[in-house]
Parts: sequence; structure tokens; C-alpha cells
Amino acid sequence: MTQSNLIELKGIGKVYSTETLETHALQNINLVITKGEFVSIAGTSGCGKSTLLSILGLLDVATSGEYFLAGHEVTELGREERARLRNREIGFVFQSFNLISDLTVYENIQLPLTYRNDLSDSQKEEIVLDCLATVDMTSRRDHFPSQLSGGQQQRVAVARAIGGNPSMILADEPCGNLDSRNAESVMQLLEKLHQEGATICMVTHDPASAKRADRYLELFDGQIVADEPAIRTTAVNH
Ligand SMILES: Nc1ncnc2c1ncn2[C@@H]1O[C@H](COP(=O)(O)OP(=O)(O)OP(=O)(O)O)[C@@H](O)[C@H]1O
Ligand SMILES: [Mg+2]
Repeated sequence: MTQSNLIELKGIGKVYSTETLETHALQNINLVITKGEFVSIAGTSGCGKSTLLSILGLLDVATSGEYFLAGHEVTELGREERARLRNREIGFVFQSFNLISDLTVYENIQLPLTYRNDLSDSQKEEIVLDCLATVDMTSRRDHFPSQLSGGQQQRVAVARAIGGNPSMILADEPCGNLDSRNAESVMQLLEKLHQEGATICMVTHDPASAKRADRYLELFDGQIVADEPAIRTTAVNH
């Protein structure tokens, strides 16, 4: 594996087992994502997109296969080590924003940094102020999430995701709850972060958004059925 391979999945499978049902959510996923790539992930409901993102983001573990993150095998890591790595390396953006309602914009962005004992308080403050500026929310730093539009809330969620300078941003339908204007501002923000070097994996149902990535992946029934330069997605229409 070369240095620029940020992610390497080898034969990854995920089976959810309940008493009555076994769901093969992912089957034999082989995938390499290099540093700086912007990858969109599409596919019908239930095909395994969020499951893939949870595994990539160390929120969940695969039931088979190997996952190398920056060259380190992470499948065998314990809960605590996984959580530490997740906090350092991964920034999440969810469809439903997932901001904490009784924390201000500033405090929401600050929250993941509170677990970082390698940063001083003044460094943390500088990071939060930087992130606020990046997403153009400085003037709203003392607002609560309920006082913001959906697009503004999602921009705060992006700021929270990038605060720790993660290796990778994982976004699950980041524009799914937004109107077209707000969706556009969030897409532009992701594009800007990508241009500045961020690695981004974005689940989207919207072909126009998918096209704005470098690379288009499509899942079907837990398997990758398309992996191509995003430019070709003009033909994809679902
Ligand atoms: N915690 C769980 N326990 C059992 N089954 C699960 C669990 N999470 C997901 N699944 C199942 O795994 C499959 C893949 O789910 P996943 O959430 O990854 O789909 P998705 O592609 O993100 O769908 P959507 O577009 O609707 O968000 C589905 O059949 C789902 O029912
Ligand atoms: Mg999903």
C-alpha cells in the first residue's frame, strides 16, 4: 500500500443479526480511497450506504474483511482506541445535523476538541474561531441551533466536523434536509474544503451533487456496482 492510500478495505462484509433476521448489509467490499479524493456514494434505500460510512468512520465494525486506515489495520482495535482514532481522524456530517440543542454554535464546534489533551485552551479557541470563519458563521457564534436555518445548522455541523483537522470527512446525505439554496451553500463549502485538500466521502441521492465529486460509487444490495470518475454520472438518473 502506498502512503497516499488513506483507506483500504479488503473483502469487507457486514451482517446485522437479530433473533429473526440476518441482514447482509455489505458484502465483499474492496475499496481504496486516496488522500484528497472527493467520493460520492449513491444507491437505493437500504443498499448499505450508511453502513459503509459507519464502518469507514469507526462507528461500527465489519463482521468480515480488513480495514486499513492510513496503513493501520483498525478492525481489531478495542472500543477505546477506536473512539480515540475516530475523534482524531474522522469528521462526521449527518442529514439531521445532530447539533446539541442546548449548546451554542461556538460550544457545538468546541465540543469534539474538549477531548483533545494535545491542544491548549488557546489553540482550541483559535481553531473554533477559524472554523466559524470558514463556514461564515462568526456572527452567529452565540446562537443556539434552534435559532438557525437548516443550512446554517449544517454549516455549523461541518465546522464541528473539521475542527480537529480530520483525515477524512464523512457526510451522510448532508443536503438531504435542505432546500436548494441551503444545499448549494453546503455543497460549495464541501467543495472548498476539498480544494483545500480534505478527503470527503459523501452519500447522496442527488445526481447533480454526486457529479460534483471526483469519483462516483454506487452500491446495490451491499455491493459496489459502479466505481467511476464522477463526470460520467450525467447519465445516472435515479
Ligand atoms: N442496526 C441495524 N440492525 C439491523 N439491520 C440494520 C441495522 N442498520 C442497518 N440495517 C439494515 O442493513 C441494510 C443497509 O442499511 P443502511 O442503513 O446502510 O442503508 P442505506 O443505503 O443507508 O439506506 P438509506 O438510503 O435509506 O439511508 C438495510 O437492510 C437495513 O435494514
Ligand atoms: Mg442511510
